[in-house]
Amino acid sequence: MIQIIEDIQAWRKLRCSSRLSGKSLGFVPTMGALHAGHMSLVQRSRSENDLTLVSIFVNPTQFNDRKDLNDYPKPLEEDLAKLQAAGVDFLLHPAYEGLYPDNYRFRIDESEISKTLCGKFRAGHFQGVLTVVMKLLVLAAADRAYFGEKDFQQYILVKEMTDAFFLNFKTQIIACPTVREEDGLAMSSRNRLLTGPQRKLAAHFPKLLKSGLKPDEIKAELEKLGFKVDYIEEWFNRRLGAVHLGNVRLIDNVKI
Ligand code: PAJ
Repeated sequence: MIQIIEDIQAWRKLRCSSRLSGKSLGFVPTMGALHAGHMSLVQRSRSENDLTLVSIFVNPTQFNDRKDLNDYPKPLEEDLAKLQAAGVDFLLHPAYEGLYPDNYRFRIDESEISKTLCGKFRAGHFQGVLTVVMKLLVLAAADRAYFGEKDFQQYILVKEMTDAFFLNFKTQIIACPTVREEDGLAMSSRNRLLTGPQRKLAAHFPKLLKSGLKPDEIKAELEKLGFKVDYIEEWFNRRLGAVHLGNVRLIDNVKI
């Protein structure tokens, strides 16, 4: 039976209790609206650890656009059923006040990578991500934490943040491959916001990223199809992109 914890102090007590002592803990931070991509991280954690903690917290500080935050799907009952069926031990579902007693006066800032790619188009986004991930990693005090390569820039930033700060305390940061729909579209909680025709069109995005075309050529092809393109760039041996279809922003990346 999954145990749901909403109160940070209750989790702190549980983390130090005999139930967890001597057991390895895997941690999967999420914003909910769980799909097979998230569940692949959960399965990996289950296979590598005695116990698995998942967090669901739609982190307001990483949304630079209020409409995007308001529209973000929050199907908690469905999520809970998926986590229960997958054999997850603990769900941390904290309130804003629990995670942000300072009301976000204190934040983590990275001065290089976070200012490129998605950082150029989403002011403050990675400050919000890194701040909440730092809080969650410290709270979880897990042996391993799992992140998806779908959000490749996020994964690199989290990995480098823990290398920079966790000098005496180690949670191993593990990258998991991107899970895709049959037509190649990377699974994302935002996909359910696409209209039927947008959803069909969306499959061109991963196809073009995988094509041998140059970034500028991919951008031109996508624009011809009706996408608004934030960027297509090559970085860390990957070809990464961010595009909009209507109000929905999609990101993806492939190995070169
Ligand atoms: P969220 O978008 O819910 O994603 C949670 C985790 O699932 C992230 O590590 C993400 O990379 C991974 N993920 C999402 N779609 C995936 C897919 N198709 N294949 C594999 N992994 C996938 O990323 C966040 O939440 C937040 O920024 C968070 C880290 C929780 C901080 O608020």
